[in-house]
Amino acid sequence: MSRFQVVSGKGGTGKTTVAAALALALATEGRRTLLVEVEGRQGIAQLFESDALPYEERRLAVAPGGGEVHALAIDAERALLDYLQMFYKLGSAGRALKKLGAIDFATTIAPGVRDVLLTGKACEAVRRKDKQGRFVYDHVIMDAPPTGRITRFLNVNDEVAGLARIGPIHNQAQAVMRVLKSPETAVHLVTLLEEMPVQETADGIDELRAAELPVGRVVVNMVRPHLLDEETLRTASGGRRKEIAKALTRAGVTGSAGLVRPLVEQAAEHAQRVGLEREQRTVLAGLGLPMAELPLMGEGVSLSALYELAEEFRKQGVGDETADAAGQTPRGGKRRGSGRGVAS
Ligand SMILES: Nc1ncnc2c1ncn2[C@@H]1O[C@H](COP(=O)(O)OP(=O)(O)OP(=O)(O)O)[C@@H](O)[C@H]1O
Ligand SMILES: [Mg+2]
Repeated sequence: MSRFQVVSGKGGTGKTTVAAALALALATEGRRTLLVEVEGRQGIAQLFESDALPYEERRLAVAPGGGEVHALAIDAERALLDYLQMFYKLGSAGRALKKLGAIDFATTIAPGVRDVLLTGKACEAVRRKDKQGRFVYDHVIMDAPPTGRITRFLNVNDEVAGLARIGPIHNQAQAVMRVLKSPETAVHLVTLLEEMPVQETADGIDELRAAELPVGRVVVNMVRPHLLDEETLRTASGGRRKEIAKALTRAGVTGSAGLVRPLVEQAAEHAQRVGLEREQRTVLAGLGLPMAELPLMGEGVSLSALYELAEEFRKQGVGDETADAAGQTPRGGKRRGSGRGVAS
């Protein structure tokens, strides 16, 4: 199973929510997960009703299965200091550099370098081992940039190629790409059952595949329940007002004349939406990727709703996939906690 799971999708479709629910679902299986954020929006802290995340890994939640969700808001400046420290042993010199404004140069003038730093930090967490040689995190889940930018964001190698052909930045980019293009990584795309996000998902998948980045699942979010059975749907979309009025009268509902029109209109609208959603489902099915679905939570996504969404993922076996390009069986690995013994 992919140890690095990247969650992208059209803006506002639920990337942050899905990433958090995924981390919780895996933690409920007994895994230790790290949820990372790269856009400085503090969306994760808000979801978990916690204070703003510092640039420091901290535990956010303990799941029923005993696993844990840790979180980190990756900040490009701090990641650069880490990086300088790692490659040049520039502890205090790094801080001096910051004062001189060198870091602004690296993070604002060269966006490619910024992305290498952000993805580099996430990949470092993916590969990090403890003294016993075990992975510190079973899974790293990234709340990633939206579909329109995800391929470029992850394809750091191409981005820095023009900037640094040799040297540590080049090597770092190569190491990052090795993780990103391996079956250790899966990029999930979140969508709604609407034309625009579905189209964006299809385009995003094409781009990711062209860049040889491993695509994971399509997560259909905010799915609304269907209220009517097939026959009623047909009647509703037909707008057969007289028939419905007669049925109401037969059922003993009197004084219903004024009610019929708005009822029929609502039913017709519902039927139309169901029809459109079916079309979008067909398009998504044609993408040939594993799918998962999360319901629309009526009251929005509170912390308890987030646990419910995580439970939905678990019921659907989400987290147990390998990336599509690879399609191989999970590799051997340690088990942790009360997990179901799926090798990570
Ligand atoms: N399954 C759901 N049911 C109800 N509300 C949801 C669901 N998923 C997400 N939302 C709500 O939709 C809004 C957008 O969700 P979220 O912030 O996760 O999207 P995003 O893709 O991360 O957005 P952005 O592109 O701004 O980062 C939030 O208010 C969130 O609470
Ligand atoms: Mg978000």
